[in-house]
Amino acid sequence: MTATAEFIRGLPKAELHLHIEGSLEPEQMFEFGRRNRIDLAFGSVEEVRAAYAFSNLQDFLDIYYQGAGVLRTERDFHDLAMAYFRRVAADGCRHVELFFDPQTHTDRGLPFGVAADGLLAGMAEAKATLGVSSSLVLCFLRHLDEDAAFATLRAAEPWLDRIQGVGLDSSEVGHPPSKFARVFSAARERGLKLVAHAGEEGPPAYVWEALDVLRVDRIDHGNRALEDPALVRRLVADGMTLTVCPLSNLKLCVVDDLKAHPLKRMLDLGLKATLNSDDPAYFGGYLGRNWTETAQALNLPRADLVTLAKNSFTGSFLPPVAVAGHLADIDAYVSSNS
Ligand code: ADE
Ligand code: ZN
Repeated sequence: MTATAEFIRGLPKAELHLHIEGSLEPEQMFEFGRRNRIDLAFGSVEEVRAAYAFSNLQDFLDIYYQGAGVLRTERDFHDLAMAYFRRVAADGCRHVELFFDPQTHTDRGLPFGVAADGLLAGMAEAKATLGVSSSLVLCFLRHLDEDAAFATLRAAEPWLDRIQGVGLDSSEVGHPPSKFARVFSAARERGLKLVAHAGEEGPPAYVWEALDVLRVDRIDHGNRALEDPALVRRLVADGMTLTVCPLSNLKLCVVDDLKAHPLKRMLDLGLKATLNSDDPAYFGGYLGRNWTETAQALNLPRADLVTLAKNSFTGSFLPPVAVAGHLADIDAYVSSNS
């Protein structure tokens, strides 16, 4: 392990952009498929991995929704979450705000609680056994209509005391944030935090809409905001957190080369960027690998690494006292490693 990788591993950090269905490893696809008696379209783990060559977001989403079909029971969701938490705990991750896509499961006939209760059980176990805290963010699928999002919010009602917020994901282009203005407003009235994918493939106008129409607390990705200097000034002035996902951007051809990734430019512009994995089983790396590969490709100095770690907590939805504790841990770690 290089000195930088060692430094990164010990640095306390949070993950704020992780789709739990995107942590489904091909081996688990076969394991869950076997125990749920589901025939897979693939013959082997190698065949599955070979199919993970994407030229855009939709290529990936098609295979990701297909993969999620093996998740049938609370136990599957619990096991999926625990496998993810074990990996990121080893990467030095202390806190996760994890997305799930309820409509992917309810549209196949699973009751809302199968995914929610299974994930919540895994989250409680991760806190007790690994010391990793977490919260749950329910994402609406933007390729579906707003009525379907409202039906999901209604189905979630009995769980809302255990759900931190709502998000917006799936196919971005053609599905602007304004399509979901009313349901985001209803979620805000229920006290939920609001996040939305914007500017991954979609134009800067979608980031403006996420800010001004949805009034989000965080932007997921936000890469294309850099095309609009007035938008960059607005994001900096608001102190808006961007949950940036470099290995995802590489796999989905949002960038051609990690060396050309805009993360360093974002930091230098004063944007509050964080580092995240998005869908680690599909994009070639969990949180630690996103950190180490990006640090190496962009030659990030330690000061930037520390800023990214601090941003991951100050940009989280943790209460201020918990944020302060994590920031103090970062400072203590940095002083003992300088
Ligand atoms: N769902 C899972 N990963 C996603 C991504 N990167 N963009 C949009 N929707 C997603
Ligand atoms: Zn995402």
